[in-house]
Amino acid sequence: MNHDIADPSLAPEGERRIEWAERRMPVLRRIRERFAAERPLEGIRVAACMHVTTETANLVLTLVAGGASVALAASNPLSTQDDVAAALVGRGIPVFARRGEDADTFYRHLHAILDTQPSLVFDDGADTTTLLHKERADLPILGGMEETTTGVIRLRAMAADGVLRFPVVAVNDSETKHLFDNRHGTGQSALDGILRATNILFAGKTVVVVGFGDCGWGIAHRAAGLGADVVVVEVDPIRALAAAMEGFRVMTSLDAAAVGDVFLTATGDIHVLRAEHFGRMKDNAILANAGHFDVELDLIALESMAEAKRELRAHLTEYLLPDGRRLLVVAEGRLVNLGAAEGHPADVMDMSFADQALAAEWLVAHGADLEPDVYRLPRELDEEVARLKLASMGAGLEVLTEEQRRYLASWEAGT
Ligand SMILES: NC(=O)c1ccc[n+]([C@@H]2O[C@H](COP(=O)([O-])OP(=O)(O)OC[C@H]3O[C@@H](n4cnc5c(N)ncnc54)[C@H](O)[C@@H]3O)[C@@H](O)[C@H]2O)c1
Repeated sequence: MNHDIADPSLAPEGERRIEWAERRMPVLRRIRERFAAERPLEGIRVAACMHVTTETANLVLTLVAGGASVALAASNPLSTQDDVAAALVGRGIPVFARRGEDADTFYRHLHAILDTQPSLVFDDGADTTTLLHKERADLPILGGMEETTTGVIRLRAMAADGVLRFPVVAVNDSETKHLFDNRHGTGQSALDGILRATNILFAGKTVVVVGFGDCGWGIAHRAAGLGADVVVVEVDPIRALAAAMEGFRVMTSLDAAAVGDVFLTATGDIHVLRAEHFGRMKDNAILANAGHFDVELDLIALESMAEAKRELRAHLTEYLLPDGRRLLVVAEGRLVNLGAAEGHPADVMDMSFADQALAAEWLVAHGADLEPDVYRLPRELDEEVARLKLASMGAGLEVLTEEQRRYLASWEAGT
């Protein structure tokens, strides 16, 4: 089997949407043109476990332009865009992903991309990398790329335990990734997911954002921009203080549970909203998660508290509690922006995937000399991505004069 997708006839629709994303990815396009000329990934086999979206398709096509062969599987059972999978298969790229696939299929698909004997691995959440340290520890791997915060946390834990067996670039840690993708991408698209599933008006609602990291920062600011009264719940005192000084109300999760109309979790943590919170929530409260795994909302507890459950609209499940209150969960508590919307806009994935492509090139050039550890992309590559993006936006970038450069480098020049 060299692919497993839902419906090959969706390819033309996927092609049109991939083209639309490509138009808004000028940095990745520049890199693709250079890759096509220089072929830095010639002969490299890549296994990519990523959300199967139009933006990922453009990354895959960039790697192929650079000389790589790529096999793609989904990094989340609910995020696959079946038309994109069909379009890539139509171009001869092996794809193993079906929207809504069950857990067994999900893991079978991860094994399928590893069966291609890759030397580079692109991961989003570290599931493939974990598999490469357990059941597939026999496969020799040159290096990996990790896309998201949760994956990087898992990899650092592997490195700290001394078990990581190849170098991995924490692409998430590049500034042109997490300061834009997590903030502006998740910030906007998480609300987009809630809007598509519910069509509610945010203005005048109390929106509780649990976790004020990069994603939570973006969600809180975008919700405020739509006229919501935003409450932030944080465990880190500095981030909680930052939220308070940026104009948000800061509360404990139990206090927030009683006042929220909409709850959005973005912590990377487990069971941040659970039975004790559900017991206090208002009738018709809406719950969604933007964190990587579907463990932030304790839906097993909600299921056992509920008398009945039904699909009220697409991507919106209603739980009826014995006292008559109804709680509404968006996209089964999975990444709401990918489950109920289309994920991050291409405009911001342009930078994240430029970082990914440059990380692959960097690993092919240097991977064999690196110890197994978690690495950041060199600063100059991060800055290069920012420069290219600014240029594509028509922005001007000021340059230090020689006098200023010397002044800033000198400890003597006080006056
Ligand atoms: N939906 C998407 O497309 C998308 C995009 C990027 C990242 N992510 C995922 O979103 C999650 C958050 O990413 P991030 O980059 O914002 O991470 P981050 O580490 O910057 O922020 C997480 C925040 O949550 C806080 N937190 C942890 N446990 C908490 C709890 N019990 N209650 C309240 N606050 C708590 C932490 O103190 C931290 O400030 C991760 O799982 C990441 O992988 C999702």
